[in-house]
Amino acid sequence: MKISSVCLVLLTAEVYGVAAREAHYTATVTPNGEGYTLAPQNSYGGWVNPEDLTPMPQCIAQQDQSTWLSTMTKCTSKRCTRHFAFICTHYQWLTQLSCLSIGFSSNVIEGYLPYCGRSVLAKAQLYLWIRKITGRTWLVDVGDANELQNLSPASLTKGYAAVDVIYKAPICLTGSVSALSMEPFQHVVASCSFTSTAQHTGNAARPWEYSESLRSMIALDFETVGYNLAGRSIRYGDYFDKECFCGAFAIDPEKEPCLVLGQLGLTKERLWINATCGAMSLPDNWTDTLKTTEFAYIPTEDWHWPMCVADMPKQVIELTDHCATDACEVDSSGYCKVKRAVDKACFCRNISYDSCGGSCQIFETRIDYIKWLHDLCGNVQDWHGLPDNWRQLAAPTPLELIPWRWTLKPSSDSNITNDTRLGSARATEKCASNEWKLGSFALVNIATFLAAFLSQRTFIHQIARGFLWHPRPRCWFFKGTLIAALQLVANRFNVFLVQTTPGYEDVPVIELMLLWCSMPRLAWLPILLNFPAAASFLFAEMILQCLSSYCMVMTASYGLEHGFYRGGMERVERGGPAKIMYAGALIWAIIIISLVLFKLVWATPRMDKSRGSEETPLTSSEGEDYAVYGTFSVKGHNNWVSQKLSVELYATVKIILLLWIAQWLFWAGFIGLSSEEYVFMHILSPC
Ligand SMILES: *[C@@H]1O[C@H](CO)[C@@H](O)[C@H](O)[C@H]1NC(C)=O
Ligand SMILES: *[C@@H]1O[C@H](CO)[C@@H](O)[C@H](O)[C@H]1NC(C)=O
Ligand SMILES: *[C@@H]1O[C@H](CO)[C@@H](O)[C@H](O)[C@H]1NC(C)=O
Ligand SMILES: *[C@@H]1O[C@H](CO)[C@@H](O)[C@H](O)[C@H]1NC(C)=O
Ligand SMILES: *[C@@H]1O[C@H](CO)[C@@H](O)[C@H](O)[C@H]1NC(C)=O
Repeated sequence: MKISSVCLVLLTAEVYGVAAREAHYTATVTPNGEGYTLAPQNSYGGWVNPEDLTPMPQCIAQQDQSTWLSTMTKCTSKRCTRHFAFICTHYQWLTQLSCLSIGFSSNVIEGYLPYCGRSVLAKAQLYLWIRKITGRTWLVDVGDANELQNLSPASLTKGYAAVDVIYKAPICLTGSVSALSMEPFQHVVASCSFTSTAQHTGNAARPWEYSESLRSMIALDFETVGYNLAGRSIRYGDYFDKECFCGAFAIDPEKEPCLVLGQLGLTKERLWINATCGAMSLPDNWTDTLKTTEFAYIPTEDWHWPMCVADMPKQVIELTDHCATDACEVDSSGYCKVKRAVDKACFCRNISYDSCGGSCQIFETRIDYIKWLHDLCGNVQDWHGLPDNWRQLAAPTPLELIPWRWTLKPSSDSNITNDTRLGSARATEKCASNEWKLGSFALVNIATFLAAFLSQRTFIHQIARGFLWHPRPRCWFFKGTLIAALQLVANRFNVFLVQTTPGYEDVPVIELMLLWCSMPRLAWLPILLNFPAAASFLFAEMILQCLSSYCMVMTASYGLEHGFYRGGMERVERGGPAKIMYAGALIWAIIIISLVLFKLVWATPRMDKSRGSEETPLTSSEGEDYAVYGTFSVKGHNNWVSQKLSVELYATVKIILLLWIAQWLFWAGFIGLSSEEYVFMHILSPC
């Protein structure tokens, strides 16, 4: 193997001896210098073939090589390599190793070191060359190569970057020169560059040769600096040492190369310098004018409109085009990636809360619009586009917590835009006198008590006549309906009172009457003591509860629809009473729904059972009262029916009691919610 490769080297020398210069021009890059790291193999008594010498280091190849080459040339001469007797049959240009070790003195190296010493890897490559050729373990001064003996990735103190990142720098930067040395940017990058492993850039097999025409040694190849010198391998590619670059290249903070190229160029430049070298060489307030998507610019793809976008005027929609510009998105490494973006300051300058009407100013879409506006422009300097009370507008207003929109205020200024603004209206119309108001409410209760009294009279009358109370469907049906009707008449009278107030002529009669139906009625409570008469009152109550379902169900479904039961009333003005009101409505609805479900589930089995219990007396021989089919024993049957009825009445009373509690909650909340405003006052008694 050794013999054959020596032969090959010799053969190559003979065949390509003259063609060496062409080889220089048709140099090929060998991806890895495999089989190349040859020690001088063919020593002719201390003389070696130049092509056996280690290729030129990268940092030498990048500067003026004349001193280097002349040093080598001095040690090279034409020597006889083959004799026949005393006649020389073959001459060859050979280099004397001992001459080289003297020639590459510290004086020669000193001239190359400022450049080669920029990058620790390049310096290490030079050191290895010197050590191999001269056996010296230092470069210029004793000990100056100690740090190079054991390189590690940490030796590159600022790390490295792929050479590709120079494409992320603006042309104004890559085309500039270092403020210190006037050295071009690209040149500085080259001086700090290295490859993953050492690469040959020319004829790897013949790195050196003596050119007779030039009378000088020439380099046909040089070897790049490999990162493997740091004892670690990295992905194949070209890199540069950041420490080296930042030490050799600097911009003048007073005269930045991209200052004249506008904000985007300047941003690109500053981000590139910051990401590569840190902010040290940048002006102190360099971040002030950055055109990045972090704050002042919003990438077009991230732009979103509020829910009420359909109601936004065309001028506002077009602002995104008007204010569109290019800005830098800072990538994960800190470099600029140009993106189309909307200039926040430009957009916000031309928009305020009042720019959009319609659904943008109504309830949930208004809340969304305010949040959008605040998120977008809230921290833009000198922007005051939100009204002073925007925090209130960003939550449901007390008026919006009320599920119906009627009778909020006199029709003369019932404008939804005005409604949503708090405290804008104060009715000053002439009011119904207090006597009238009190009278109307007294009327409602007198009606109930009157009915109660009448029933009691009937009951006492019945006892006096020795009758036991027994169900007379028509009787309690009639009385119950009458009581409910009385209540409705009283409500209608109150509506009439409201309507006579100027400005309230348009209040909806039915809705208002139904709302009053949902009021908890105290009057029927005493009736519980007179149990038998309760049937009529409970029936009346059932009718009124049915009517009150309008408001209760409306409130509960409004609450569900607007998320009031899911925390939608947190930190809302007068949210406390509103919560009570909505809780009352929900409890009421739940009671009714469970009642209906209970009836549905239990109705079928009980029907069978009741049929059975109806049959039992007929087939039973127990008690002669039942012996004759078709004739009622009044006493026995009455006992059984009244017992059954009293159980059912008792259950109904309990349910109505629960509904009554729910109604109290509803009204307590409703009054609390609307008392400070005109709403409640207007509904119960205008003004
Ligand atoms: C500047 O560079 C530092 C360090 O790499 C980084 O933390 C910072 O975010 C950069 N500044 C900007 C504005 O990109
Ligand atoms: C940076 O600050 C200096 C003074 O501190 C000021 O003169 C200069 O105008 C500022 N530059 C920018 C771009 O804000
Ligand atoms: C935005 O506002 C500025 C002044 O504040 C005005 O000059 C400009 O015309 C407005 N642009 C649009 C599109 O309305
Ligand atoms: C509400 O205000 C708008 C805008 O001023 C007006 O056009 C509309 O007629 C008003 N509506 C009522 C009911 O007053
Ligand atoms: C809103 O109410 C004010 C009085 O508080 C009134 O002057 C104004 O005209 C109303 N706006 C609309 C649009 O009705």
